[in-house]
Amino acid sequence: MKLWGGRFTKETNKLVDNFNASLPFDKKFYKEDIEGSMAHVKMLAKQGILTDSEKDTILSGLESILNDINSGKLIIDDGHEDIHSFVEAHLIERVGDAGKKLHTGRSRNDQVALDMKLYVRGELLTIDELLKHLLTTIHNIMKDNVTTFMPGFTHLQKAQPVTLAHHFGAYFEMFKRDRDRLHDTYERMNYCPLGAGALAGTTYPLDREYTASLLGFKGATANSMDSVSDRDYVVEFLSDLSLIMMHLSRFSEEVIIWNTNEYRFIDIDDAYSTGSSIMPQKKNPDIAELVRGKTGRVYGALTSMLTTLKGIPLAYNKDMQEDKELTFDAIDTVKGCISLFDGMLATMKFNKDNMESSAKNGFTNATDAADYLVNHGVPFRDAHGIVGQLVLFCIDKNIALDDMTLEEFKAISPVFEEDIYDAISMKTCVEKRNVKGAPGEEAMKNEIALNEEYLSK
Ligand code: ARG
Repeated sequence: MKLWGGRFTKETNKLVDNFNASLPFDKKFYKEDIEGSMAHVKMLAKQGILTDSEKDTILSGLESILNDINSGKLIIDDGHEDIHSFVEAHLIERVGDAGKKLHTGRSRNDQVALDMKLYVRGELLTIDELLKHLLTTIHNIMKDNVTTFMPGFTHLQKAQPVTLAHHFGAYFEMFKRDRDRLHDTYERMNYCPLGAGALAGTTYPLDREYTASLLGFKGATANSMDSVSDRDYVVEFLSDLSLIMMHLSRFSEEVIIWNTNEYRFIDIDDAYSTGSSIMPQKKNPDIAELVRGKTGRVYGALTSMLTTLKGIPLAYNKDMQEDKELTFDAIDTVKGCISLFDGMLATMKFNKDNMESSAKNGFTNATDAADYLVNHGVPFRDAHGIVGQLVLFCIDKNIALDDMTLEEFKAISPVFEEDIYDAISMKTCVEKRNVKGAPGEEAMKNEIALNEEYLSK
């Protein structure tokens, strides 16, 4: 059934029907469509536009449609242009003439703007919860690893020793900001477009603020033309999702590196890795690789949405129907990636000995050896040169700085004494760094306490 057959004398071309239809994908928000209609009908009755008995008839019809779709009794099949037509047709079939009054004072333009907002708003909150769960997993790993030493890198070269807690703390900050961004988007988008009509509002005395409050919005949107054509929040949301994926992708890259035969910093649990069909020895980090790979897909949705919107004159245009498939795909992709990544982290084993020896064998304590000399009165530039000689000596012998004998130290500079070993131990190197944000135990414990408080809210 078509909602707009009246002024047409010929059937629509079948290919046009298929090309035009959005039902195959907008059926995803049938719940939101029905929820919006229910609020609309309650408002119409409150304003005396519908009688109370018409309202009750329509509400029970909508309720039965919702229950039947939920239970699988009513299948959303083809033959309708979109979910709005589907629901309205079934309502009229079930309750008769009263159902024909549902669309009073409403257009599919404000209806679809509402449905999409309700859907995005709900999914945004789900993603926020998933991020909070991921942050809890990271937090637990941090608490257990305040003294797990590992190399910190710059240019992917071993630089200075840090701890696993400190490294994970960096991701804690990123995902925390990702949640903030979602909250910002939520606040900005949370206004109800219903009542904007096709583009110019309506002559019925609607109470738009009432509908908005029934649906949990902060208020009604201000301008009817903007209301039906605004998809800024979709762009913002896709940009939030892109940043989440960018962070997950960087983290994935590290998991992949840490999992290599060369690093062996971690063991990914069997439940979260896969094998090779030909090489029996392989245990691959497929989850991390897929998360990294799927990042491009979410960026694609953002670019696509921006491009779709850039040439659209006011107000509603059918181009806007393109806001759905890519956004739905991006949402499902991000939800899957966060959950799987979270599970992979929670079950991962950290090979603490490998991490610490990697930090030692990478001369990450060289800066601290230079600082030792400076503390004994050697000018920094000379100290830098002396430690350079120590490093050359160690590379030649294939040993770490800590493995040198005191005689060997003294042969290069007589300033060195027995306490050099303590000064360049991983523990000292990390422990001395206690400014806010640094990996020292005291600084990390403060950071972890703040994170704990954040997660309790
Ligand atoms: N399926 C349409 C969309 O997603 C619904 C709005 C249709 N409005 C119209 N005037 N044809 O945008």
